[in-house]
Amino acid sequence: MGNIAYDFQIEKDDFERAGEASSKIKKILRQLGIDSGIIRRVAIAAYEVEINLVIHSLGGTISISIDPKSIMIIAKDIGPGIENVELAMKEGYSTASDKIREMGFGAGMGLPNMKKCADSFYIESIIGKGTIITMKMMLKDGE
Ligand SMILES: Nc1ncnc2c1ncn2[C@@H]1O[C@H](COP(=O)(O)OP(=O)(O)OP(=O)(O)O)[C@@H](O)[C@H]1O
Ligand SMILES: [Mg+2]
Repeated sequence: MGNIAYDFQIEKDDFERAGEASSKIKKILRQLGIDSGIIRRVAIAAYEVEINLVIHSLGGTISISIDPKSIMIIAKDIGPGIENVELAMKEGYSTASDKIREMGFGAGMGLPNMKKCADSFYIESIIGKGTIITMKMMLKDGE
């Protein structure tokens, strides 16, 4: 398997298309014959990060790259940034509005789930600038 990379543009408040990028990612990985357990973890992490960009950010990009050893997901957005990353990482912490909660989001489980799904998880956020989340899932030999 060679190196493959895709970029997906995510728009703020675009609930119509929310989830599209992560389902495309899932499809790509299926076509590559990646292990279904790893696909599930990537799909969950990609979905959570995509929804967060729609709900909490001003928009951004999700990039996925696949090499013979690993899958890397990088989500980069253009603000507003996360004030307290340690707090945001806690299960149950959410700043989602009542309107967003009525839509079924805002349990405060997205970031902790991403961390659980990834073999490595790195988050960098600057107030007023944006957030970058880098996640990596290792592939088993021969996939
Ligand atoms: N890209 C982002 N930009 C700005 N703030 C963010 C971003 N992603 C997460 N946050 C902040 O971190 C909090 C926790 O995120 P997390 O995904 O864990 O929960 P949630 O999105 O509020 O709820 P859930 O994911 O369970 O629907 C959010 O409520 C928000 O305040
Ligand atoms: Mg979330």
